[in-house]
Order: sequence, then C-alpha cells, then structure tokens
Amino acid sequence: AKNVGIVAIDIYFPPTCVQQEALEAHDGASKGKYTIGLGQDCMAFCSEVEDVISMSLTVVSSLLEKYDIDPKQIGRLEVGSETVIDKSKSIKTFLMQLFETCGNSDIEGVDSTNACYGGTAALFNCVNWVESNSWDGRYGLVVCTDSAVYAEGPARPTGGAAAIALLIGPDAPIAFESKLRGSHMAHAYDFYKPNLASEYPVVDGKLSQTCYLMAVDACYKHFCQKYDKFEKQQFSVADADYFVFHSPYNKLVQKSFARLLFNDFLKDASCIDDASKEKLAPFANLSGDESYQSRDLEKAAQQVAKPFYDTKVQPTTLIPKQVGNMYTASLYAAFISLVHNKHSSLVGQRAVLFSYGSGLTATMFSLKFNEGKSPFSLSNIAAMMNVDKKLKSRHEFAPEKFVETMHLMEKRYGAKDFVTSKDCSLLAPGTYYLTEVDTMYRRFYAKK
Ligand code: ACO
Repeated sequence: AKNVGIVAIDIYFPPTCVQQEALEAHDGASKGKYTIGLGQDCMAFCSEVEDVISMSLTVVSSLLEKYDIDPKQIGRLEVGSETVIDKSKSIKTFLMQLFETCGNSDIEGVDSTNACYGGTAALFNCVNWVESNSWDGRYGLVVCTDSAVYAEGPARPTGGAAAIALLIGPDAPIAFESKLRGSHMAHAYDFYKPNLASEYPVVDGKLSQTCYLMAVDACYKHFCQKYDKFEKQQFSVADADYFVFHSPYNKLVQKSFARLLFNDFLKDASCIDDASKEKLAPFANLSGDESYQSRDLEKAAQQVAKPFYDTKVQPTTLIPKQVGNMYTASLYAAFISLVHNKHSSLVGQRAVLFSYGSGLTATMFSLKFNEGKSPFSLSNIAAMMNVDKKLKSRHEFAPEKFVETMHLMEKRYGAKDFVTSKDCSLLAPGTYYLTEVDTMYRRFYAKK
C-alpha cells in the first residue's frame, strides 16, 4: 500500500464547559494566570451522563455515518486512552457493539495505554498494519478518548475531554513519511495514576514540564538524524510548514517550539539569522540541565521563535485552547485545528507532530498532505468535522457547577448499582450517553 495515512477524521467533545477566566476568579488565582500564564481559554468536561466510552461510541458512529462507511470495511480498531474504567475489559470491546449489528466481528486490535501517548501507539499500530503483509485491504480505525480531570489545585485548570476517530488507509490525503520518526522513552515519575480508586493522577508539575521539554529536544535530535540519513540534508524548522504539539496547555507549546529554534541555533542552521544568533549566543555553552532552568534563555528563544510560531504553530492551537488537555486526543485535536484552519492550502506541505506521554514515552513524526480522492479531500474532512459549529453550540457552566460535577464524578468513579439522570437535553442528536451501571458493574448506554 502506498501513501498510507489518515483518510478521514472526526472529533467529539462534551458540550459542557467552563471559562478559564471564571475558573481563575473562582479558584482565587491571580488574574491572567490561567488565560495568559497557561494560555488557555476554556475547558470541556464530562457531565454525569458522559464518559470515555460514550464519547468514543459517539465519534465512531458519527465518522462511519458521515462518510457512509460500511462497518464491515473496518479490519482493525485500536483505542488509545489513559482513563481506566476497567482493568481488563478494553474500550475497544465496548465499541464492538457498533459492528455486531452488521455481523463484523473480524476486527483486530485492543487498547494502548501510557498517559497521553496511547493514541499515537494505536495510530502507529494501524499505519504499520496497512503497510504490512498482514493487511487484508480493509481500513484501520484509531480512537483517542480521554477525560482529563485533576484534584483541586494548580493542575485543575489543565483538564479537558474529547474523543477523536482517525480512519487509516492507503492513498491518504494525510500520508505518513514513515521513515521520519524520532522517539525518546525513559523512566520518570512526572505524572502517573497509582491510586486505582481515584480518577485523578499524582502529578509533579514542575518535573512534568522539564520531562516534556527534554523529550522535545531528544525526539527532535533523533528526528533530525533520520532526516539526515534518508533525505541527505540537514533538517531545521524551515523544512516543515507546521509543527503540532501535544498540548497540556498552550504556554508549554510556545516554550517547546522555542526549544526547536534553540536546537537549530546550536547546530548552526541557516534559518537562524544574525540578529537571532546574537540573542542566543550567551546561552550556547549552557549544560542541558542549565538550559532547562534558564528563564533568560526561555525568553530569548521565545522571541526568536515568535515569527515562526505565528505561521507554523498558531494555526494548530484553536481546539486545545478551547477544550483543554484531552490527553491522548490532545495532539490530534491540535492537528484537527490545522486542518480546520488551513485545509485549502495544505496540499504538498509537511507537518511535524510531537506526541508526549508522561512516565515517559515520546515520538516526533512527519505527515505530508496530498489531494485526497472524494469524499476524503482535506476540504471535505474540514466540512464534516464542523469544528466552528461544535465550539459555538457549547453551554458554559459556572465554576461552582463544574466543581459540583467533579464531586459527583468522584463518587461515581468505580461505583456500581446506580442510574444516571439520563438527562441528555444538552447533547446533540446522535450522542451516546450513560444510563446505568448495574450491580455487576455492567455499563449501559443509549443514543440520543
Ligand atoms: N498573569 C499572567 N501570567 C501568570 C500569572 C498572572 N496573573 N500568574 C502566573 N502566571 C504565569 C507564570 O509565570 C507561569 O508562566 P511561565 O511558566 O512562563 O513562568 C504560568 O503562569 C503558570 O504559573 P505557575 O506558577 O508555574 O503554575 P503552577 O505551578 O501553579 O501550575 C502546572 C502549572 C505545573 C502546569 C500545573 O497546572 C500542572 O501541574 N498541570 C498538570 C501537569 C501538566 O500538564 N504537565 C505538562 C506535561 S505532562 C501532561 O501532559 C499531563
């Protein structure tokens, strides 16, 4: 199979959200901390009738319907998620309900988990399958689904929720440059979920920021080495039109992209002009550790990066700023923002993506845009996703209501024998919602 990659995409996020400005005031944080300091506008959250399973049912059924895909045409289904509802039964098996009705049980794949990286692992599995001898000619389907919630405290405004479905096949409008991948994997306790009775992670915020930036550097180095090897040229930020990052919050994306420019400066890439060289020269001899601690370097690199950021990164930031960290779905929500904003001018261009999952696993990889065949053209994908309408039709909740929902969800997490309110009045038609968890912990969903 040639030009294997993403042929269609859909995204779902809950219609329930809270404005960061209101949350900031409610939490007693200084004005501007969440909006300017973290760079976030709004945060989506699941109400008591939604969870990662309902969101993934919604997004998969929506994608199959919109593109008129016969469920029999799916040969592999992989889910990435770090929101554990069951320690054994995969989310993938819940999704099989959508395929049983048409008699398709011949679908490989299960769930992948490592913090925000599981979706990327699932995506690579599907792409590799289509490129392999095991491929049977059918589509792969990747689902990234997460509800990111934190205990009260500084991490709480970095939550979010969404599910994304990516249809994988040959002759894709969004094709993998499969040889161009650089990974960095290591053992770290930056963010983890050792308490199985709670949905909340244990997080060392400062360490997680440094781990993320170190992973950006290491992946970029490995990615550039692969580029040198296969393209016989030095890679710099000038060689990609867009850079798409896993987005816990926008400020970290700004800092990460600036690191790429600093790396380009260190290897004397031609995209760094003389004025920029002068700004970065004082930091040329910092050790790795020192370079992560230096506020002056951070500032100088962000200044140098600013014009590049505006063209190569800013178009990817819409949904992550509006919806928040969606864990496994976050990187792909940033990518969707790019397709939404730039679909008419992407053909022939390259996007480099950076995926990060705490603990830690990270990969930088490359995608190229092609003319897709109808209905899989970039403009049709953008039209089908209808991001503007989904953002506009949301319902803003007061922070008190959000906190109340978090309290209820704490009680419901891991619980059995309850029925939900079944109130689906805020949900769009076609949305799945949780109705009941019975005495055997079996979960039941309905479709609006
Ligand atoms: N106006 C403008 N900016 C402000 C204001 C204000 N009133 N107050 C603070 N700021 C700035 C700070 O200077 C800082 O910016 P800087 O980093 O450029 O200096 C920023 O706002 C955040 O403030 P901090 O004091 O650093 O925030 P705090 O430590 O309270 O929390 C953190 C931030 C650590 C990110 C926390 O939200 C967290 O733990 N989140 C979860 C972990 C996370 O997302 N890690 C990222 C990678 S791992 C993953 O994806 C889960």
